[in-house]
Amino acid sequence: MEIKLPLVCSIGFAALIVSASVALLSGNQAREPADNPPPVHITAEQDHQRMMDLLHIQSLRPGADPKNPDAPNAVNYDEAKVNHDALPDPLLLNDGQKVTTPAMWWDKRRPELIEMFDEDVYGRVPPNTPKVNWEAVSVMHEMNGSVPVITKKLVGHVDNSSYPLIKVDIQLTLTTPADAAGPVPVMMEFGFVFPPGFKWPKGFTPPHETGPTWQQQVLAKGWGYASLIPTSFQADNGAGLTEGIIGLVNKGQPRKPDDWGTLRAWAWGASRALDYFETDKSVDAKQVGIEGLSRYGKAALVTMAYDQRFAIGFIGSSGEAGAKPHRRNFGELVENVAGTGEYHWMAGNFLKYAGPLTPRDLPVDANELIALCAPRPVFISCGSPKVEGNWVDDRGQFLAAVAAGPVYRLLGKKGLGTDQFPPMETALIDGDLAFRQHSGGHTTGPNWPAFLQFASRYLKAPTAPRATASLR
Ligand code: GCU
Repeated sequence: MEIKLPLVCSIGFAALIVSASVALLSGNQAREPADNPPPVHITAEQDHQRMMDLLHIQSLRPGADPKNPDAPNAVNYDEAKVNHDALPDPLLLNDGQKVTTPAMWWDKRRPELIEMFDEDVYGRVPPNTPKVNWEAVSVMHEMNGSVPVITKKLVGHVDNSSYPLIKVDIQLTLTTPADAAGPVPVMMEFGFVFPPGFKWPKGFTPPHETGPTWQQQVLAKGWGYASLIPTSFQADNGAGLTEGIIGLVNKGQPRKPDDWGTLRAWAWGASRALDYFETDKSVDAKQVGIEGLSRYGKAALVTMAYDQRFAIGFIGSSGEAGAKPHRRNFGELVENVAGTGEYHWMAGNFLKYAGPLTPRDLPVDANELIALCAPRPVFISCGSPKVEGNWVDDRGQFLAAVAAGPVYRLLGKKGLGTDQFPPMETALIDGDLAFRQHSGGHTTGPNWPAFLQFASRYLKAPTAPRATASLR
């Protein structure tokens, strides 16, 4: 069973409370120091080497090099040089039997896939993850454009009584329309936080967007939006694996080879945010979607795949370890993600596929991760190769979505409806899997209107008369 439910969200809101403080941190008693050795502090390089030693790996192949076209490991952006390995059949049981009924999918194949993703790709969420107690640090009545909204700043205090030396607080902001007729659908984003003084790298043009923000587009539908800060509860680096939620559960010790990586930790946080939404009467928790870009696009897909309570996914430029097939030698590769800068996203066991084994030996691929979201709707989003580049492998992501289609169809839904790669800016949004390349760069921004058109088939704002909705 991959989802732990229910966790305690010990919070309630009274109307118009400006600041609530209802933290219920349970039993945070300090233990004797002898019981609790301090967290291990090692660099990402040391931890990576430690994992290689544990797995008896002598060396790893280098990742694709995007900078030097003459390098032996130069990145491949040439469709003619692609290996065209078939993606694994999501409807074939490990014993070779064909999955022919929804019951076989739910009872046999889905659990098999989850087990393989857990063991070799994203790692296992430990069975004893601590409770999260949500506190509203502020509730503000404000305007977003012309829409009156209520914004709650929330902190999810993770119970650290098992190891008080590590403190973990999840940062979440929720905004809902103030005049909602009832509980509203919410789109939650994995939010980037740029450190103070952050400057874009030289030569990099940040995406420039005009018109209403995505939050305003969501409000125009009568929905709400939320921002979850992944790095508030799990750092985006290997050195941080002995801290954050992964470090807390491991009592400050480094990971075992099948322990969860950062992507699953971020997805765990999204699930805890959804636990909170289930307790907040302004949110319709059955209509919560998840969106993310790039590494957070990977996290959004992992969230959707594992937690079936999420209603819809908007997966932005997720590339390798997201919607891009591991087997396809185009753009970023397994070998890049297995390197010291990115390995922390994954289970330690993932390193094996850049060492003695190859991506072809992976028992699963990205089409099966997308298939784990079935029958729920998923929108795969990319930018323009001319602006965003080819690192994220748009065509590969499309092909993975095509190859997830059989599972959607088995469950009575529609896949993409074509296996022909569409022209730029063509929204394939008539099925339950959707795909669109926008003409901008590394952002989901220009795809929000197409996503919202797709999502409007599934998420519905409340229509009850206002009088019934004294919910805030
Ligand atoms: C790097 C990395 C990608 C990742 C991206 C991002 O480019 O190789 O896998 O998606 O960073 O998160 O911005």
